Amino acid sequence: MSDQQPIHKRRIRYAGTHPKKFNEKYKELNPDKYQEDVEKIKLKGQTPAGSHRPICVDEICDALELKPGMTGIDCTLGYGGHTSVILSKITPGGKLIGFDVDSIELPKTEKRIRNQGYNETVFTTRIMNFSEIKSILDEYPQGVDFILADLGVSSMQLDTPERGFSFKNPAPLDLRLNPSNGESAADLIMRIKADALINILIENADEPHAEVVGKAIYSQKTTCQTTDGLGEVITRALKRSGVKADDIKPSLQRCFQALRIAVNKEFYVLDRLLESIPDCLKPGGRVAILTFHSGEDRRVKKAFKEYTNTGVFTECVRRPLRSSSQERHDNPRSSCAKLRWAIKK
Ligand SMILES: C[S@@+](CC[C@H](N)C(=O)[O-])C[C@H]1O[C@@H](n2cnc3c(N)ncnc32)[C@H](O)[C@@H]1O
Repeated sequence: MSDQQPIHKRRIRYAGTHPKKFNEKYKELNPDKYQEDVEKIKLKGQTPAGSHRPICVDEICDALELKPGMTGIDCTLGYGGHTSVILSKITPGGKLIGFDVDSIELPKTEKRIRNQGYNETVFTTRIMNFSEIKSILDEYPQGVDFILADLGVSSMQLDTPERGFSFKNPAPLDLRLNPSNGESAADLIMRIKADALINILIENADEPHAEVVGKAIYSQKTTCQTTDGLGEVITRALKRSGVKADDIKPSLQRCFQALRIAVNKEFYVLDRLLESIPDCLKPGGRVAILTFHSGEDRRVKKAFKEYTNTGVFTECVRRPLRSSSQERHDNPRSSCAKLRWAIKK
């Protein structure tokens, strides 16, 4: 037997009565040990640090008509919130494959799901882009019973300062879902011209002040190498051009979103997923896609409508489903979500 004592780690000290910074929130970052405290945070409508709250869970389970024995894909594993509920509905006998491009979070999520008692015969993961979904046909040539995609970013990505996603946390500007792949937003800004920046802000986020912001970013590109630097450049440019204080935060959110969509090629990969879905579903198989802004929803709506009109799908939802008022109250991040589902012929 080892006579070594476990190393006692002192928790991070913080100023004041409550931890404010992400890394100081030791209770939220350790939900197994501090379950009660974490539940209280959720009841206040907040997302505990280091986690993600799944959105429209009941609506998604209903849309996919989940039953024991089904096989499916969660294209956007994230924290595993949807996966965990899906697994409880499709077992015994079912199987779920979880994709995510995020090589930092995926191993943590896999461990969490294993701890819930799901082994490799029931649940497997792949670090990959959902644009490559057709690769599952090697293993499931007939396709699967259901496909779920919950688009965009997880709260872990948004809230972890080192990931460089938010103007609220100073960090090198990154915005990549997989930080070991492709170009960071900081590098993109160094490389492209003002016109291209303006175009990104218009095309990806319908930013009404795209011209002012795009020119400011271009002329101060070295300051924009950090999240806070970019935030300041945008804020100053908007104030100078007379934008009201209340309109600055939404503009900041749109500009960060637009750059994130660009570095992750989010529209391109969504189009590849939408093209591949019919081949990857069995006859009668169901798909559900949760979107968070109009650029995504427009693409899903158009593809589902086209597939329904051409007889590839038998049915698709006419109007997108929204989170309930209770869910919007409990989790404000669900407010802009739209859920669309369809059934393959
Ligand atoms: C909104 S979160 C999903 C949260 C998850 N449904 C849950 O309940 O925890 C979106 C996740 O999708 C991943 N993602 C986004 N685009 C992707 C893509 N093209 N391929 C694979 N994963 C992607 C992100 O890295 C992120 O982890």
